[in-house]
Amino acid sequence: MKNTVEFFDTTLRDGEQSPGYSMNLDEKIRMARQLEALGVDIIEAGFSIASKGDFESVVAIAREIKQSKVASLARALRKDIDAAAESIRAAARPRIHLFLATSDLHLRYKLKMSREAALKQAVAMTKYARSKCEEVEFSAEDAFRTDRDYLCRVVEAVIKAGATVVNLPDTVGYAMPKELGRMIADIRRRVPNIDQATLSVHCHDDLGMAVSNTLAGVENGARQVECTICGIGERAGNAALEEIVMGLRTRRDYYKNLQYNIRTEEISKTAHLLSSITGQKIALNKSIVGQNAFAHESGIHQHGVMANAATYEIMTPESVGAIATEMVLGKHSGRHAFAARMNELGYQLDEPRIDLLFSEFKSLCDRKKSVTDRDLMALAENLTTPSGNPDEQWQLDSFVVNSGNRMTSSAVVTLQQGKRKWTEVSIGTGPVYAAIRSVEKIIKHPFSLDDYQLQAVTEHRDALGEVRVKLSDQTGTYRGRAVSTDVIEASILACLNAVNSMLSNSNQALGTGSAAAAQHTFENDMLTGH
Ligand code: KIV
Ligand code: ZN
Repeated sequence: MKNTVEFFDTTLRDGEQSPGYSMNLDEKIRMARQLEALGVDIIEAGFSIASKGDFESVVAIAREIKQSKVASLARALRKDIDAAAESIRAAARPRIHLFLATSDLHLRYKLKMSREAALKQAVAMTKYARSKCEEVEFSAEDAFRTDRDYLCRVVEAVIKAGATVVNLPDTVGYAMPKELGRMIADIRRRVPNIDQATLSVHCHDDLGMAVSNTLAGVENGARQVECTICGIGERAGNAALEEIVMGLRTRRDYYKNLQYNIRTEEISKTAHLLSSITGQKIALNKSIVGQNAFAHESGIHQHGVMANAATYEIMTPESVGAIATEMVLGKHSGRHAFAARMNELGYQLDEPRIDLLFSEFKSLCDRKKSVTDRDLMALAENLTTPSGNPDEQWQLDSFVVNSGNRMTSSAVVTLQQGKRKWTEVSIGTGPVYAAIRSVEKIIKHPFSLDDYQLQAVTEHRDALGEVRVKLSDQTGTYRGRAVSTDVIEASILACLNAVNSMLSNSNQALGTGSAAAAQHTFENDMLTGH
């Protein structure tokens, strides 16, 4: 049996489909690049048939990624397989990932199919997928709750039909580690051609067992693990990649020196990139990547660690590339030092982007005493590529807000488009509402504010505020993000970030140079609580 465990990362598919973790095309590409830098063996880039957006992101990731294999998910249907095959056509190392439920519960109530019909379908679609791609993974959805004799028949048949990887998911997170291990052992013992395929596990975390179950699978011979960064995924999530690999690394004595291709020093950067892209904070006590994961608060522990780190530390912060958060640069720092630090933090920026970021960094230094790595990352994450014609982009020129507990808030906002400027004044229930309303009046394109989130990037009083918004009009939903030490400024900039994509898309959709007015009014959205 192979001595290497392959990591199949599904952050961009199982992870991305869960609420709060959706990403746009550009964000998915950045995440995929970092997954490749992390050393992930297979990146599941999406579910190509699910939507046009999914299809396009799988195509883009397939073009971009050279080292890792790129997979698209597909139901065991010809049209899904066609879409998956088409989307990964440009990949250096493509894989089609087929799935079909095999438990009686799913067959009877979801698919309304007999066991025999499902078996036939699995075989036919595996053959069809193999005619389109050299690597085909077959997943028996809800494998853990599938009758074991039937599961053995399915596994044997799909391997015979050409599946190169067979995945046995605990789709609903029901298994206990010993049971999951036994399922893998049973399949290895009872399926005669099992050596012709790699056996894989895919565990959900409904009972908090996903990582333990995955490792139990590995102990019993699974050589592919399906996982996500920070365990994001459907419902309670999937098994966390960083926990599985650090389990193998830290307890190599127990796992008999099993090998893997993950560069563990990239873990922290990957988790922080995901957090910064999605706006979801990492829990302080999250294993491996939480801020407290390597912090020793109690005196006894600190004393022990100072005497010998091994007393309370089973792995080093360096081994997971834990990111330092102390001040690294200040207003006297030069462009060269700034560029070098950004590079150390993993941002490969071209000269114009360095210039742009450096000027933002300098203006941040004027407003903020200490600039930390996390501030720099927030600035870099905020650097978006403007879509559409630059002369049609709206930019913030200036704003003044008036607000207090005994008055109606008002905002005067001046925006610039090309060389022209417009000013509008609005009132609202708060200064953010008033400011966004002024933006809406200036651009003359009604939109709905579907989501607004504000959070501090670091802990200190002069922390950068990061605002994320979700706006929609009749053409779709658009996300915007911005950081500033002033939360009203961050709110306006985040709004403009989304507005510029919205208008460029609306202009394309409507074939006009100026946006057409929609029926929706800003009064209907969340700020007014209707
Ligand atoms: O949980 C599951 O069963 C899945 C399959 C599609 C692999 O995500
Ligand atoms: Zn899943």
